Amino acid sequence: MRSSFLVRVLAPLFTLSTAFAQDDACVEEDAAAGCVALESAFPTKVFYPGSTVYSYENSQFWSNTEILSPICIFRPTSASDIATAFTTIESTAAEFAVRGGGHMGIKGANSINDGVLMVLSNLTTLELSSDQSTLFVGPAYRWGEVFDFLAPYNLSVAGGRLSPVGVPGLLLAGGINFYGNQHGFAADNVVSYEVVLANGTVVNATSTSNPDLFWALKGGSSNFGIVTKFELSTFISKKVWAGTWSVANEYLPQFLEAIANFSSNISDPLSHVVPAVVPSGPNPTDTIGAAILFYDSDTISFPDCLKPFTDIPSIANTMAFKTVAEFAAENGQVVTDGINDVFVAGTVAGTTYDELMQGVQIINDTFFGALPALYAQIPLANISIIELDWQPIGALWIDASTANGKPGNALGLDSSKVYLCYAEVVEWIGSEYDTIVADWVESTTYAINNATLAAGLYDAFNYMGDSAGFQSIYPGYGAENEAKLLSISREYDPTRFFQTNMPGGFKIGA
Ligand SMILES: Cc1cc2nc3c(=O)[nH]c(=O)nc-3n(C[C@H](O)[C@H](O)[C@H](O)COP(=O)(O)OP(=O)(O)OC[C@H]3O[C@@H](n4cnc5c(N)ncnc54)[C@H](O)[C@@H]3O)c2cc1C
Ligand SMILES: *[C@@H]1O[C@H](CO)[C@@H](O)[C@H](O)[C@H]1NC(C)=O
Ligand SMILES: *[C@@H]1O[C@H](CO)[C@@H](O)[C@H](O)[C@H]1NC(C)=O
Ligand SMILES: *[C@@H]1O[C@H](CO)[C@@H](O)[C@H](O)[C@H]1NC(C)=O
Ligand SMILES: *[C@@H]1O[C@H](CO)[C@@H](O)[C@H](O)[C@H]1NC(C)=O
Ligand SMILES: *[C@@H]1O[C@H](CO)[C@@H](O)[C@H](O)[C@H]1NC(C)=O
Ligand SMILES: *[C@@H]1O[C@H](CO)[C@@H](O)[C@H](O)[C@H]1NC(C)=O
Ligand SMILES: *[C@@H]1O[C@H](CO)[C@@H](O)[C@H](O)[C@H]1NC(C)=O
Ligand SMILES: *[C@@H]1O[C@H](CO)[C@@H](O)[C@H](O)[C@H]1NC(C)=O
Ligand SMILES: *[C@@H]1O[C@H](CO)[C@@H](O)[C@H](O)[C@H]1NC(C)=O
Repeated sequence: MRSSFLVRVLAPLFTLSTAFAQDDACVEEDAAAGCVALESAFPTKVFYPGSTVYSYENSQFWSNTEILSPICIFRPTSASDIATAFTTIESTAAEFAVRGGGHMGIKGANSINDGVLMVLSNLTTLELSSDQSTLFVGPAYRWGEVFDFLAPYNLSVAGGRLSPVGVPGLLLAGGINFYGNQHGFAADNVVSYEVVLANGTVVNATSTSNPDLFWALKGGSSNFGIVTKFELSTFISKKVWAGTWSVANEYLPQFLEAIANFSSNISDPLSHVVPAVVPSGPNPTDTIGAAILFYDSDTISFPDCLKPFTDIPSIANTMAFKTVAEFAAENGQVVTDGINDVFVAGTVAGTTYDELMQGVQIINDTFFGALPALYAQIPLANISIIELDWQPIGALWIDASTANGKPGNALGLDSSKVYLCYAEVVEWIGSEYDTIVADWVESTTYAINNATLAAGLYDAFNYMGDSAGFQSIYPGYGAENEAKLLSISREYDPTRFFQTNMPGGFKIGA
């Protein structure tokens, strides 16, 4: 079928043929044909530039750097819409991208130029099972909406720690959450997935039905199917003792020691911490410490396990009893919409205080050693946030993952070690600084990792949720798990639809 839209898109291609590589023109032509075919199947669910829905949906991304120019946006309202769309897309050879909450801050991971953008905003299941032991949640949601829904029932789930983060991408990456030392990764708490496979079949993956797919979705991202519903275990949560504990520059040596101290002795399952050092300028004295502290109790404050942090005098803190919904909203206030952001991940692994302390120190020293070079290239007014944080994952966490039962997750972590995962965060205003930031974070990350490697502390695990586009993920899960993910993806997607037609995101390979 040739519609006026197709002619409108294709005509300039032919007139500008000298300016376009033939391949680009083909990709765009396939995508335009894909949009036309989708529109004929779903007249009310396909949107073009200039429409209100296109403008709205094409703005729903955490970072400006993610915003591209899809030829059309497809907004399905059911799993069967997606199944039909796959057939249509495959027959036109169009390329597409899928966006859940839009928080993966990587260009091309959740949107596309010269392609179809599928947005999951209308997959809005949100209901408790009749006995309230599980929650069915669609990929349309942000974690804040989920916690708000559960709060009146005095329930919570393992999910994002900042309210605006999207549900599906976090669960498919693993999910570092407040309850990790009790319940493992958020993904370990998914008891069933409704998934649209490449051939349009909608399946249910559980520990007993499609168990290999069930395992692969716990860390394997978008290589296996589009998840249209997650079923999560719930647990009772009235209030928790939580907040941010900020310390002055002069206490930073003690603050870094507290990170190693806590991480080498994670002994209380109710605890979770995210300590960060936060500069506000190029000089070493411009930096403060700020730790998100969490304790899953509505009666106990200042527990012993958090003492390494709370023994340091605070310049400000928000510690109080509050619901998880309130805490996620509080943490979410640091998210500024409409600016440019990048996260980068890395890990040191060790077992003793001394090893972890050396790892923390190397990461601090390398990062802050490189920082003046970034400030030299970007005006202070154009830097929104810079942060270096650590997330410790040790035996309590990894054993809690295992305790959720077979087949476990794909992340491949070993409970005899503590993984101190670090994340670099840079947020800035003005796209003319994009390349400067990208180059700086890449070279700084290589410098950190080469230094931790030389010290014998480097681990190849890069937490997907915090990783940048230049990083690789699956090798860090171990060769065996990487090979298993590849073979499961070949089993469920024999035509390699997700590897070829959906090029963005962390791909396992053809
Ligand atoms: C401010 C901020 C706070 C964060 N806090 C946390 C945290 O507390 N814990 C944590 O673990 N991580 C955290 N993250 C990282 C977060 O897990 C990732 O950014 C994750 O990708 C977000 O999910 P999303 O749905 O918003 O992502 P999207 O960008 O929408 O999706 C991520 C990837 O998954 C694919 N995808 C999306 N939905 C589906 C689906 N239904 N089926 C198949 N593939 C799909 C997309 O195509 C894309 O490649 C945070 C990130 C930010 C920016
Ligand atoms: C789809 O999602 C959008 C954005 O949240 C909303 O405005 C619209 O009403 C939804 N449509 C349907 C059919 O659910
Ligand atoms: C939630 O907990 C509060 C405080 O204990 C209690 O007053 C309330 O009745 C509980 N609500 C439900 C739905 O259980
Ligand atoms: C998957 O199947 C189980 C067992 O039949 C069922 O309880 C669950 O609701 C299904 N999950 C989804 C997401 O459809
Ligand atoms: C480990 O932490 C607990 C508090 O959770 C504390 O009682 C204990 O003394 C600590 N052990 C070491 C070796 O620091
Ligand atoms: C860890 O912190 C606790 C409480 O602040 C302290 O008693 C202990 O000496 C610290 N251990 C190390 C190795 O720093
Ligand atoms: C962190 O690294 C910077 C740069 O090397 C250094 O000046 C600073 O003292 C370090 N901070 C701590 C607390 O060791
Ligand atoms: C720098 O940031 C300011 C706001 O702080 C903004 O107005 C300006 O446009 C930015 N500069 C560039 C080059 O984008
Ligand atoms: C070490 O640095 C080199 C180049 O800077 C980089 O290619 C390599 O990946 C780094 N090693 C690690 C483990 O990051
Ligand atoms: C769809 O793919 C799955 C996984 O490869 C397979 O089990 C199923 O038989 C296929 N269905 C059809 C209709 O081809």
